[in-house]
This record gives sequence, C-alpha cells and structure tokens, in this order.
Amino acid sequence: MDRNFAMEFVRVTEMAALASARLMGRGDEKAADHEAVEAMRKMLGSIQFDGTVVIGEGERDEAPMLYIGEKVGKGEGPKLDLALDPLEGTTICAKGGNNSLSVIAIAEEGNFLHAPDVYMQKIAVGPSAKGAINLKDSATKNLQRIAEAKRCRVDDLTVAILDRPRHEALIAEVRSVGARIWLIGDGDVSAAIATCKPDSGVDVLLGSGGAPEGVIAAAALRCMGGDFQGQLIFRKEDERARASKMGISDFDRIYGIEELARGKVMFCATGVTQGPLLNGVRFFSGGARTHSVVMRSESKTVRWIEAEHHFESKPQY
Ligand code: FBP
Repeated sequence: MDRNFAMEFVRVTEMAALASARLMGRGDEKAADHEAVEAMRKMLGSIQFDGTVVIGEGERDEAPMLYIGEKVGKGEGPKLDLALDPLEGTTICAKGGNNSLSVIAIAEEGNFLHAPDVYMQKIAVGPSAKGAINLKDSATKNLQRIAEAKRCRVDDLTVAILDRPRHEALIAEVRSVGARIWLIGDGDVSAAIATCKPDSGVDVLLGSGGAPEGVIAAAALRCMGGDFQGQLIFRKEDERARASKMGISDFDRIYGIEELARGKVMFCATGVTQGPLLNGVRFFSGGARTHSVVMRSESKTVRWIEAEHHFESKPQY
C-alpha cells in the first residue's frame, strides 16, 4: 500500500470533521452525522483507488451513503478496503462533549473482519502491556497481568469503561480490585487508542461497545503497537443470522488484533470535539484549524498533523 495514501486519507477525515464540527452542540445527532458522511464520501471520490466500504454506516437498505459494500474512490488503482466512521461519537458532537472523531482505517482487500453491527466485548492496552491480555479471563486477572507488565500496582491503572447499565458488574469488579475508572459517555475508539498514548492517562479499555468500532480500534492499535481482543455478543437470533450472512460461523470466537485487522493497515483520525487524543476543530475568521493523527502499521510511524484550512482557497471536490 503506497504510503502517500496516508496524506490523501487524512484530508478525508479533516473534511468530515470540519463539516460535522459546525453542528457541535446543536443537539442534532442525525444532522451532524449526515454532514460528516457527505463530506467523507465526496472526498473519497477524489482519490485514485478502487475502494470498498467494509465497515461503514450500516447495511445498504438502512444507509444511503457509505454503506457496507459501497464502492468508493475513482475506481482505478489499488483495491483497498475501508473501515470508517465519519463521526464516531454522534451524541458527543451533538452535546459538544469530549472525544468525537472522524476516523478511517485502510487495508488491502480482504484484511478487515466484516463485523456485523452487534456489540463486541473488548479489551485494549498500549504497547507496554502487549501480550498480557486474554478475554477468556476475568477483568481482575487481566488487570493483574497488565499491572505486572507495566511494572506498576493495579491501583495505579486507569480503566476506561463505557458508562452503561450493562457494565454494572464489570465496574464493581474493577472497583473491588482497586483500579481507577474513567467512565466514558461514548466514544470507545478514542479510549482504545488513548491506551497507546502514555500521556493520555488511560491504561486499559474494558467492556462492550460496537463491533464495527472494535475493528476500527484494532486497526489503530496495530499501527501503534498496542494489543486488542474482541468477542462478538449476540443478543438476538437475527443478529446471528446477520453475522452468518457476513461470513461469520464461529459465534464464540475471541478475535485477536491480527484477526480483526490483518496485513498492512493505515489509520487516520481527525478530532471533531476536544479530547485527550486530539484537539477538536477550532474555527477562526475565514477558516479553521484541525488536529489529526495518521499512522501506518508497516513503519509504526505516528504523525500528528495540525492543519490550518482557509475556506476561500479550498478546492471544490
Ligand atoms: P456512534 O458514533 O455510532 O454514536 O457510536 C458511539 C459509541 O459510543 C461507540 O464509541 C461505542 O462503540 C458504541 O457507541 C456503544 O454503543 P451503546 O451506546 O449502544 O452502548
């Protein structure tokens, strides 16, 4: 995969972030998402590649744009699969909260798990705890091994968990073992990535969230040398049927990071609202500033890009 694609794709997340950030705090999740989707799709159409959305806005019949299976790009050039979320954290953006992002992960054809839109049990850690996690074990055991790997005490660890009633028992267990907790309202992709950034103050992500977001997070952690495991959760029979249709036959499988995002992977994200990982979009007279991260699994290079956009001189795509 040509490394120059990294710059092409960061323009895509920048445009989606700029578009949705205009609607920050307006209380309209759908409108913010719609703006991001439109901008992302338009920008993807300007890139010379033969792309397929494998993780996107949903099934074809429920999402008019960037649906699973949609072809994107100019149609000529390398065949690449995309796992994208034009606005990860729609509620966050609508409320003007922390941590909404525009994200896109890129792999050569066939390398992302085609994850259905169900929940996924997740565990994510940064490079210093790589190899210390196992979803088969309890949260307590995992935290003890992570602390050992990081040469710290369990009560030095900070665990990000989505603040949901379904996590009541998990939160109680983490509290009882003594680790600190960062309860997040939404946005487990950025929380997973934060485990790889030593100054983020987050050591582990635990709990269940969207499976598509799990694939996106796994791609990012591959680039940063972190570790991730995920197990699909099926609550209803039709969820299993949907998964079967997408090629999944072993419903109990625990997926390792390489099974979620294989081969050479690239990842780009731009902050929509402020967060520990990325600054949000800041508008100024005639333009805006964006903050993005671009990374590649092959080189493990992580680039933080601050861009100043001047609307009058922007090309029309
Ligand atoms: P959206 O951007 O689709 O709103 O997802 C936000 C999010 O918080 C994800 O980060 C997370 O994986 C998922 O929703 C959790 O789902 P739920 O809100 O149903 O617990």
